[in-house]
Amino acid sequence: MTKKQFPKGFLWGAATSAPQTEGHSLENGKTKTTWDYWYETAPEKFNANEGPNNTSNLYEMYQEDCKRMQEIGLNSYRTSISWARLLPDGKTINKEAVTFYRDYFKQIKANGVTPIINLFHFDMPMWLMDKGGWEAREAVDAFAFYAKTAFETFGDLVTDWTTFNEPIVHVEMGYLYGYHYPAIVDFKKAVQVGYHTLLAHAAAVREFRQVLPTGKIGIILNITPTYTRSDEKADKKAGLASDLLNTKSFLDPAVHGTIPQALIDLLAENELTPQTQAEDKELLQNTVDFIGLNYYHPRRVQAPKNPHVPAVMPEDLYAPYDWPEKRINPYRGWEIYPEALYDVAMMMKNEYKNLPWFVSENGMGVADEERFMDENGMIQDDYRIEFMVEHLNYLHQGITEGSNCFGYHTWTFIDCWSWLNGYRNRYGFYRVDLNNHYKRTLKKSGLWFKEVSKNNGYDA
Ligand code: NOJ
Repeated sequence: MTKKQFPKGFLWGAATSAPQTEGHSLENGKTKTTWDYWYETAPEKFNANEGPNNTSNLYEMYQEDCKRMQEIGLNSYRTSISWARLLPDGKTINKEAVTFYRDYFKQIKANGVTPIINLFHFDMPMWLMDKGGWEAREAVDAFAFYAKTAFETFGDLVTDWTTFNEPIVHVEMGYLYGYHYPAIVDFKKAVQVGYHTLLAHAAAVREFRQVLPTGKIGIILNITPTYTRSDEKADKKAGLASDLLNTKSFLDPAVHGTIPQALIDLLAENELTPQTQAEDKELLQNTVDFIGLNYYHPRRVQAPKNPHVPAVMPEDLYAPYDWPEKRINPYRGWEIYPEALYDVAMMMKNEYKNLPWFVSENGMGVADEERFMDENGMIQDDYRIEFMVEHLNYLHQGITEGSNCFGYHTWTFIDCWSWLNGYRNRYGFYRVDLNNHYKRTLKKSGLWFKEVSKNNGYDA
């Protein structure tokens, strides 16, 4: 048994988001987001008809939920503010939202937990979508205004902020693969949307430096580390394209202040160059104090079979590869490859200035999780504990070798609504019973996490 001890002050936390937990999505002054609109117009897309109006009811239950944070030993917690709740028309502050978030953040802190507050978690307000959403450059200013309002309104309570959660997801899901509204399939538009998102991040940080000069700000990126099938030239070229589009597109500008030349060239070769303005380069400088990385699974890549030139879809640049040694989460379907966390830690150390970073999400989704409930109603989720231990072991190795990682947040605190999947895959430390007034019941993993947090490590 080796004791895995983590650095002093390490963050042991959990992450979630406003649209996935609050509920009350059309109440208390909030206006519609693209999720509310899509659910209204295409409810059949949502698993079991579970929509955004009906998430874990945290809006009413936050006071007890904040006590639960302490109960499982969280010293840190990330959630988001709903843009459409704070600024229902983009300009006017909703007083009810201010009262709610201020008290919520106070309660989090009163329970010994440091909040990290994120601004955008896939929840585009409909009033902005109607003007073109992220396709329109005016979204950059609209986001900067929202960010400034949030910093001014909550900056006395919150010092640690992030701008976007997984920005590549609304790019891909909304503009390439048709899973999220507006479900457009257009590589060129996707690139423009990504570029405006990057500018919006930078414009928000510019406001932050004025309003909260002593605070810290970062961005949360989902990292799907690329592993290529072979060292053959075509496979390596595909691996590089995947890396440029999925990882470096946001990570390089965030940390280095520049878009990699290889990405600029790749986009140009494929007639995908976005529209830019001369002042953008300056704006992209110095936009993060830290990075959050969400890690769930890697990306196995090989050369595409029938590439189009110029590329119509990313599949023309890289194709999925079915790694024969793949371990699969039997309850969710995603590959389990904890080794990647070590590789990510080393990448941050060697290629990204060893900037402070943390694992901002890692977790195991399980469908039909009630099958693991014991006679006392507790979910015996040993599989989740094992999943976290395996990932933490590799993270620990990276930290031991000098990677500047300051925390581990798991997804998620309480079972929450997950977009089109609704409540199908459960990830929480607490089970949420949708048939019994959203009753929360602690899972075994919550008890385990409390010990880990208390000891700042575990025996392995
Ligand atoms: C990433 C996202 O941030 C979150 O919204 C989602 O529910 C989880 N991963 C689980 O898939």
